[in-house]
Amino acid sequence: MARHTLDTIPPYVFYELDDRRMAARARGQQLIDVGIGSPDGPIPAVVVEAMQQAAADRSLSGYPNFRMHPAYQAAVVGYMQARFGVTLDPSAQLHALAGSKEGIAELILSHTNPGDVVLVPEVYYPVYARATLLAGAEPVYVPFLPDGRLDLDALDPALVARAKVLIVNYPGNPTTMTVTLDELARYVAFAERRGLLLLSDLAYSELSFDGFAVPSVLQVPGAERVAVEMHTCSKSFNMAGVRAAFVAGKRDAIARLDRYRSNIGYGVSTLAQVAATAAFTHHATIVPPIGAEYRARRDALVQAFRAGGWPVVAPRATMYLWLDVPAGFGDWEWVDALIQGPGVVVTPGMAFGEAGRGKFRVSFVQSAERLAEAARGIVASARR
Ligand SMILES: Cc1ncc(COP(=O)(O)O)c(C=O)c1O
Repeated sequence: MARHTLDTIPPYVFYELDDRRMAARARGQQLIDVGIGSPDGPIPAVVVEAMQQAAADRSLSGYPNFRMHPAYQAAVVGYMQARFGVTLDPSAQLHALAGSKEGIAELILSHTNPGDVVLVPEVYYPVYARATLLAGAEPVYVPFLPDGRLDLDALDPALVARAKVLIVNYPGNPTTMTVTLDELARYVAFAERRGLLLLSDLAYSELSFDGFAVPSVLQVPGAERVAVEMHTCSKSFNMAGVRAAFVAGKRDAIARLDRYRSNIGYGVSTLAQVAATAAFTHHATIVPPIGAEYRARRDALVQAFRAGGWPVVAPRATMYLWLDVPAGFGDWEWVDALIQGPGVVVTPGMAFGEAGRGKFRVSFVQSAERLAEAARGIVASARR
């Protein structure tokens, strides 16, 4: 068999990190794992109850709708209206997803041909580039301006002419960068001018602090003509294991995604959709305690770094710190020093692309006390 596209894709850095983590555990080492972004909090009680009832409900045991359960549609329409003032047509502007990671991949795969270009932020959540490569298309990396906005003017016009999709991710993983509605409007205008689909990945819509409310691209007037937005239950509601998300926006893009998905699957698990329905219905009561916990963790971590002399800036969204590898350390050398020294597992920046070299990511997935302990270990390891 000729070489398959899959074999041309570089290994996933997170696998390599897993190997190092497992090797350390096998040596009997105690670890504080702040590498992965998997929320450690419980699934909200109202969601658990809804899932328990649904599991015993005979009317829900058949195959799910291809697109979305009507109750889930209604919950999302209510959430988007209440949270962003965005009105959606549920029959044409919504689709359930089994997580936004898969959804992003499916959207890219259903909108690109070999030789097409996908415009990806230079530091990025890995699926943006990997799904593009799986499609036989080419990721072209958009540099950041110093304030975190995308420098679209820096792009080669010949590459932009081949582009089909522009991906934006604010609040960003791993960068923690946020964006204004005006800036989102600039991306909408760019996409409209160039005939691109704008894909906004809004995985951290509810994880913001200090009174900052994360905007939706669909708040930009006319955005639904060019944009789709991915939302997920994973981070906002501690539901990463449930695999429930949705995409909203541009009608023909959602119809195309539906065609793609219906050829390979049967819709999203009804149990997951019932869980997501409960979560979005009760978002106003579920989110505040989860946000307060992350804020306390962020503050403990930032304070511990600052006490150690690291001038860390407190992010106003996401569940991460995105920090510089101390001078004198290579990327993996730093990761290994932290595992072997204080037993702290962090993610090396190159997991998020070449432009992530020289950085590392700390996730707020431990208690405030453990995070402060991790920060002290990190600070101590930089002195050698
Ligand atoms: C920016 C971003 N997008 C998407 C995802 C995937 O989320 P989901 O669990 O919905 O697949 C993540 C998860 O870490 C993320 O950080």
